[in-house]
Amino acid sequence: MVATVVASLATSLLASSVSHSSPSTTLFFTKLRSSSGLRFSFAVAPLCSRRAKFMAHTIARATLGLTQPANIEHPRISFAAKEIDVAEWKGDILAVGVTEKDMTKDENSKFQNSILKKLDGLLGGLLAEVSSEEDFTGKAGQSTVLRLPGLGSKRVGLIGLGQSVLSPAAFRGLGEAVAAAAKTAQASSVAVALASSEGLSNESKLSTASAIASGTVLGVYEDNRYKSESKKPQLKSVDILGLGTGPDLEKKLKYAEDVSSAIIFGRELVNSPANVLTPAALAAEASKIASSYSDVISATILSAEQCKELKMGSYLGVAAASANPPHFIHLCYKPPSGPIKAKLALVGKGLTFDSGGYNIKTGVGCLIELMKTDMGGSAAVLGAAKALGQIKPPGVEVHFIVASCENMISGTGMRPGDIITASNGKTIEVNNTDAEGRLTLADALVYACNQGVEKIVDLATLTGACVVALGPSIAGVFTPSDNLAKEVFEASEVSGEKFWRMPLEESYWESMKSGVADMVNTGGRQGGAITAALFLKQFVDEKVQWMHIDLAGPVWNDKKRVATGFGISTLVEWVLKNSS
Ligand code: BES
Ligand code: MN
Ligand code: ZN
Repeated sequence: MVATVVASLATSLLASSVSHSSPSTTLFFTKLRSSSGLRFSFAVAPLCSRRAKFMAHTIARATLGLTQPANIEHPRISFAAKEIDVAEWKGDILAVGVTEKDMTKDENSKFQNSILKKLDGLLGGLLAEVSSEEDFTGKAGQSTVLRLPGLGSKRVGLIGLGQSVLSPAAFRGLGEAVAAAAKTAQASSVAVALASSEGLSNESKLSTASAIASGTVLGVYEDNRYKSESKKPQLKSVDILGLGTGPDLEKKLKYAEDVSSAIIFGRELVNSPANVLTPAALAAEASKIASSYSDVISATILSAEQCKELKMGSYLGVAAASANPPHFIHLCYKPPSGPIKAKLALVGKGLTFDSGGYNIKTGVGCLIELMKTDMGGSAAVLGAAKALGQIKPPGVEVHFIVASCENMISGTGMRPGDIITASNGKTIEVNNTDAEGRLTLADALVYACNQGVEKIVDLATLTGACVVALGPSIAGVFTPSDNLAKEVFEASEVSGEKFWRMPLEESYWESMKSGVADMVNTGGRQGGAITAALFLKQFVDEKVQWMHIDLAGPVWNDKKRVATGFGISTLVEWVLKNSS
């Protein structure tokens, strides 16, 4: 009815209407000429609004849908752990990780470190010379690569690790520097060694090797799917020298590979623009994970109608303006065999685009052009699912939940001031349509609690306020549970990702009160990341241990202008901690 009125208005107001006939329906294509002389055409379906929506969709597909990611093969880098002398190794680059301490020289300007001394001897003192000429002191971020005759390796590189107390992040940095050197030299084979690895325990040798391996894989990777031309990476093999050999190390390297490929998957999801990665496309990616690891992962995708039956009025309110329908994603991991001792849920914000809605994002610094990244939480959750599908840990069941949709503007959209009702019956006065992530998470958290889980971690690009508080590379952690905080912080020690615990200050709830509904969705500007977390808390059972992670900052690498894949490695570590 409404559509008919709109259609007849449109056709009577506009001068040149032409009609195209198709066998079953008649559609009116109306041509307009704007003042600038540009031509626009739009379709109006006179029969029903569904038809109109369908047409708008089809036309958007035909134009915006011309972009499709190229299917680029990434040759696998093979890693091998070897115990051979660095001087014996043959290949393109021998890279040696050195600390500032390793670089100290005696009164005759000779290295004291035995590996450096040996290499320098074979090279007639060139290493010592170049390090003083270039003022290479082993600081983190420094590196120098020399093309030389006289060794089995074509090139020797020194890569600075910084001070002598080293973290997984430092070794990941070493891997990244190795990748950069390999790219520059177009090397296909490299070896990595540490100037001083003798002192390391067996346990730290394993984690060091795996950090180097993942740094290398992630450093070599470039997302060229949306470029018309791209260079193939050359690096094929990496030998890790002096960090042991054997099945434990092999297993650890396989684990590093599984997690790295999941991080690449997560980055690709976030890098994909919103005209390609719609909620339906995100759901299709999730289904693909379930079919690739069907022995351990199953998928349930709920349509808008099914979500309506579950009374998800908060999530559906956000989705209401979009021509791309919402898709509620639920993957479930169960181990191949054995009893289940822990049940967990990972919930991710999955806004494939956030325009802000009627409270549209305007002005410099609002970053509307970056809002394809607003599904970074869901990329972390689905990335973790992919890694766990490969690793198959025992004793733990994991639910991966994403209420995916787009926050757009249209006549069917949610208005500022609307009151919506979440699936737990709580009512929300929407005083700002741009605080949409929490509205989608509300129903996702209620759904997660209904799965009977003991612990929930949610991840969301939730607030600009969190970026103001912690800057671009640290995620905010909010939880009433000291136990869960301890578990996740221990996991982050291994992954090297940066988190900071923030207060869940209950007195700030005052600003979230509504005169007419149970709550509003936005407090003031002050403490915006905290009031957002307090809002989420309204939708979590008190019996469940819950943590909210705001990754609005670290989801994106501003310098490289690409996604980071943040969260995946920490989530996988955390799930493994809960496995048996
Ligand atoms: N998706 C944004 C948060 C965001 C901002 C992510 C910048 C990455 C970079 C979120 O939906 C949002 O718009 N939050 C508002 C909340 C406000 C209206 C209370 C914000 O942070 O401004
Ligand atoms: Mn928003
Ligand atoms: Zn958002």
